[in-house]
Amino acid sequence: MTLENIKLDIDYVRSQFPAFKDPLSKDWSFFENAGGSYVPQNVIEKLTEFMTSTKVQPYAKYPMSKIAGENMDLATDLFSKMINAKNNEILIGGSTSINLYVLSNALKKYINPGDEVIVTNQDHEANISPWLRLKEQGANIVQWKFNLSNQELEISDLEKLITSKTKILAVTHCSNIIGSVNNLKDICKLAHKNNIIVIGDGVSYAPHGFPNVKELDVDFYTFSLYKTYGPHLALLYGKEEILKDLPNQNHEFLNGIYPYTINPGGPNHEELVSLIGIYEYFIKLYDHHFKEKGLSILNKIKKINNLFSKHEEHIANPILKYLHERKDLKLLGKNKIINKDRAPTISFISNVKTSKNISEELVKNKIATRNDNFYAWRCLEHLGINTEDGVVRLSMAHYNTYHETKNVISALEKI
Ligand SMILES: Cc1ncc(COP(=O)(O)O)c(C=O)c1O
Repeated sequence: MTLENIKLDIDYVRSQFPAFKDPLSKDWSFFENAGGSYVPQNVIEKLTEFMTSTKVQPYAKYPMSKIAGENMDLATDLFSKMINAKNNEILIGGSTSINLYVLSNALKKYINPGDEVIVTNQDHEANISPWLRLKEQGANIVQWKFNLSNQELEISDLEKLITSKTKILAVTHCSNIIGSVNNLKDICKLAHKNNIIVIGDGVSYAPHGFPNVKELDVDFYTFSLYKTYGPHLALLYGKEEILKDLPNQNHEFLNGIYPYTINPGGPNHEELVSLIGIYEYFIKLYDHHFKEKGLSILNKIKKINNLFSKHEEHIANPILKYLHERKDLKLLGKNKIINKDRAPTISFISNVKTSKNISEELVKNKIATRNDNFYAWRCLEHLGINTEDGVVRLSMAHYNTYHETKNVISALEKI
């Protein structure tokens, strides 16, 4: 078998997730992954292990405490390797929304009256509202609007918005409604030519493949770990050269020990340690599918990302095609995933039924989904969609099956 022919072993994948055997969840086709994902056994084990034997204050000399501290450091270390960051460039916070508020507060020092901050109308509110607060520093907020005809954020439009006063650009790597993957690398290139700091929201991107932050050359990047098969935490990456100059927002005596100075307090210890389980799961997947030894963690992740993408194309493209061809439904975003240019996060509305109505019908057919604006209400407003009723969103992860794809299509056919 050549490398190119290797397919994700979906039975093996699903055997790692207890939810697929659990009496409450096992009969459901789960299509709410953009809301939050299931966790593999390794994550549950790490959490249990911490709570059972090392649930003490970490970093003292006695073994329970020493091991607790070592595992907390290990979790950060492994995650930094998985996304190609240094281990002092990573912060673990309660959620992406919290991370971005904390970051915008820290970046205030770069803002003078009259400076400009660019936000998009394709983003989730988490990467808009914190930057609007910079108005208090005298910043003018500029909106980069997506093109209504193809629903994409056009870099040519961004070019027109940039001025010598632009200091910050907050942009999503992938829309949680439209599903498009934005070319963050090119966006960063353009921004950096103009000395602009870029904050990338990777929440809808990372579940489909961990990012390589150095390759993207993004200044800050955040994603929610509870959507990447972990507990309810979120990761914030920042370039060391910027992080070390940010003001201390933690206890006064911690001054200078970045990145601990950015968050006003530490992370949830047990959940942090359970992140080791995500790493273990990915390495298990690598060992199950590939023979090549001696690869770096980053390269193993890259191979797994590619396996995920191929599988996700296979299970999402039939749904995209089906929705695109239904005359009474309007699919948002691209109607096919080609080369990872779209996430399998699929939103649509109907000409005849409300989104609430459709999602309720889908639930009756054991399709776990919902209707909402998913906090990207500016995006929905721009599209002229009722933000109360929102869209129906079918969001998939690598553990969804082709059988579930067929389930959702036959349920849509019925209703
Ligand atoms: C694209 C996007 N960004 C940000 C967030 C906010 O994440 P959190 O719930 O971790 O604050 C979400 C949550 O759904 C999201 O989908």
